[in-house]
Amino acid sequence: MGPLQVTRTDKKVKPLQIVSNSPEQTRKIGMKLGELAASGDVILLVGPLGAGKTCLTQGIARGLGIHEYTASPSFVLVREYHQGKLPLYHIDLYRLDRVEEVAQLGLDDYLYGDGVCVVEWADKGSSVLPEEHLLIELQVVSPLKRKLSFMPKGTRYMKMLWKLKVMKQGDKK
Ligand SMILES: Nc1ncnc2c1ncn2[C@@H]1O[C@H](COP(=O)(O)OP(=O)(O)O)[C@@H](O)[C@H]1O
Ligand SMILES: [Mg+2]
Repeated sequence: MGPLQVTRTDKKVKPLQIVSNSPEQTRKIGMKLGELAASGDVILLVGPLGAGKTCLTQGIARGLGIHEYTASPSFVLVREYHQGKLPLYHIDLYRLDRVEEVAQLGLDDYLYGDGVCVVEWADKGSSVLPEEHLLIELQVVSPLKRKLSFMPKGTRYMKMLWKLKVMKQGDKK
């Protein structure tokens, strides 16, 4: 069993959940993550088509200071952005069917490099992705509503989530 499943079935860790009511709100959540991101961070996204994974990634790019984000064709597996405070590596595993294919991509330079990695459809590569990561599951609640569940694996990501919570509380005041 890959690390993702272990995280998701670990009943002891109650995930932080945030509801988003619009694409813009999802981008804002992503932006906060981008602001908090540090060199080497790995953010794994899971959820069905149209859940908002790319939308969240756009926000992460913005938070990193990348304003040239363009949604290039979906057959591109890895997109690199170097205009921000850290490189962003946006990996989309949608088109892959088997974990062996993911392993053959040679993603380690990205995953263990000094940028920030965001992986869409991370469940397709769970066993070959880093054990320490921030897993975000996006669920479609209604046409404009999404539920985001944050599951940190490793202290680095627990700290990141704690800071995200503090930022969210600041929003409400
Ligand atoms: N709250 C929301 N958050 C994110 N996307 C939303 C939301 N409400 C509606 N949407 C729409 O859902 C779609 C999400 O698309 P996308 O981010 O490409 O999903 P994915 O990458 O998960 O397939 C977009 O068309 C977006 O406008
Ligand atoms: Mg997508």
